[in-house]
Amino acid sequence: MCGIIGYTGKHSVKEVLLNALTLLEYRGYDSAGIAVSGGNGYRKLIKCAGRVSDLEKLCESENIDSTCGIGHTRWATHGGVCDRNAHPHRQGKVTLVHNGIIENYKELAEEFNISDSLISETDSEVVAGMINHFYSESGDPMSSIVKTVKKIRGTFALVIMFDDIPEVIYSIRNVSPIVATITDEGAMLASDLTALCAFTNRYFVVPEYHILTLHKKDIKLYDLAGNEVEPDFQTMDWEKNSADKGGYPFYMEKEIMEQPDAISNTIMPRIKDGLPDFSEEGVPDDLFEESKRICVVACGTAMHAGLVLQAWVKSKLHMHIDVETASEFMYSDPVINNHTLVIAISQSGETIDTLEALKYAKKQGAKSLAIINVKGSSIARESDYVLYTNAGPEIAVASTKAYTTQLSLLYLIVCRMALARGILTKDEVMADTAALMSVPESIKDVLSRRNDIHVIAGNVLEAKDLFMIGRGLDHSILLEGSLKLKEVSYIHSEAYASGELKHGPIALITDDTPVVAVVTQKKLYEKEVSNIREVKSRGARIVLFVKDELSENLEKEFHVWRLPNLKDELMVFPASVALQLFAYYVSSDKGFDVDKPRNLAKVVTVE
Ligand code: F6R
Repeated sequence: MCGIIGYTGKHSVKEVLLNALTLLEYRGYDSAGIAVSGGNGYRKLIKCAGRVSDLEKLCESENIDSTCGIGHTRWATHGGVCDRNAHPHRQGKVTLVHNGIIENYKELAEEFNISDSLISETDSEVVAGMINHFYSESGDPMSSIVKTVKKIRGTFALVIMFDDIPEVIYSIRNVSPIVATITDEGAMLASDLTALCAFTNRYFVVPEYHILTLHKKDIKLYDLAGNEVEPDFQTMDWEKNSADKGGYPFYMEKEIMEQPDAISNTIMPRIKDGLPDFSEEGVPDDLFEESKRICVVACGTAMHAGLVLQAWVKSKLHMHIDVETASEFMYSDPVINNHTLVIAISQSGETIDTLEALKYAKKQGAKSLAIINVKGSSIARESDYVLYTNAGPEIAVASTKAYTTQLSLLYLIVCRMALARGILTKDEVMADTAALMSVPESIKDVLSRRNDIHVIAGNVLEAKDLFMIGRGLDHSILLEGSLKLKEVSYIHSEAYASGELKHGPIALITDDTPVVAVVTQKKLYEKEVSNIREVKSRGARIVLFVKDELSENLEKEFHVWRLPNLKDELMVFPASVALQLFAYYVSSDKGFDVDKPRNLAKVVTVE
């Protein structure tokens, strides 16, 4: 979950590393550090608990005269948040940064007799000690790295410098990602593309268990036997400045505002003659025709996208679909076989639980389709088929545009499946596809009235607990809205299927408890409104997001915010954007660092 950077080239490394770490900070923000090297044994290591801005302050007073170095921003796993646990770590002649988890680090520390020399409590420093051990014996960096990784169990992206080999950086990985590039400015690697996109749009994903070496004017890749391997360069389609805040105070606001374009970019290239078409991406209709059941594996917001898919699949395809929290999947004896289509949904494409669930499902014979935002990521590579959401980089920890682009792509898939399975006619699918194409406009409408949502948000700033209630699709929408609110505002928020209230949770409603309700489904209207009245009559303060055409009469009774009219099944789009804005304004008005909520990190690569 940590951010990693390595650079050797023409420029002052201090600037390059600090700028990159600022961009990578969303991957973890407990502590940060850099180590630099240069000719004549020049070395410096600066690190601290805290943010990259704290590291920047420390670096201000340092005269760092180097063009080669490595950097790290941490999300603590082993050992608390303190200066000495921050990366880089040093043992002997080896300095490294690490992302991942070394499961057998305690045994290894014993075996290599390095427990006493360890300064930190991290698993990473043990790896530095092991590489140093082999390096002291052989003086050979490559074989020292190979011998070390053969002994370690777990996930790792390691970026290593040797005192005796200035201005060269080594790297190796298993599961945890590393991407790399070379330009006229130098060679660079990072834990993800956000740090590279300011430099170039050409990059390659370092293959697992391959050693990468960065030199000032060259980059080399070797397999573990020492054979040179050609890097598989790819072109990223992100704009050069797509990782900037674009004038917004927070990435989350920028990313909420980008949703109309992000959705258009995701769906339009896949609509041919008015129909969804995935043939250019090599996803065959057979996959959609032959599957007997669907199983979604995903986490958090991506799993909530799966719940919306579930509602669509049931109502439009009348098919069996399970949505599994990826972290629970393998341990819940899932019923899957070669007739199951497993859909893995993930923004980052690196979430370890989703990756492991996918691998497990494949072993049981399931076919797999991944819905991913980050090109070339681990889940994308593991899956039989992949469709990318063209959301561009999502930097705010709280997911917004990734979610709605996932939904838009999933809806297209359902439409294609309906056609392939002969459930809907061409004309019917065309009508549904056209309805989807109107989603960006309806989101623009919500965005244009965001100030009213800001005012509503102002009424819950003091709340300690808040409830969200709705039925059917509205409940799925609120599960995501509630997650958004709790992660960025720290208000305890629960989403309930409103029919369930009477079976327990209504006991929590007291005078003035804020309750957010969403009413967008005509068939549920009466029941939902009754449930809202039940909590209102027990003192709850209601905020109601309601589809415009259902709103008549309600404004007399409730504080109503009207959502633009779309087909009921597509109301998830405007309603979710309204709830994203609600969470965003609560958080920013409370003065929180919206983009970096406490304890979280953007990419979750530990189980
Ligand atoms: C919440 C959020 C997380 C992620 C989850 C899965 O705002 O961002 O719940 O959705 O960690 O991440 P990905 O989609 O990268 O697999």
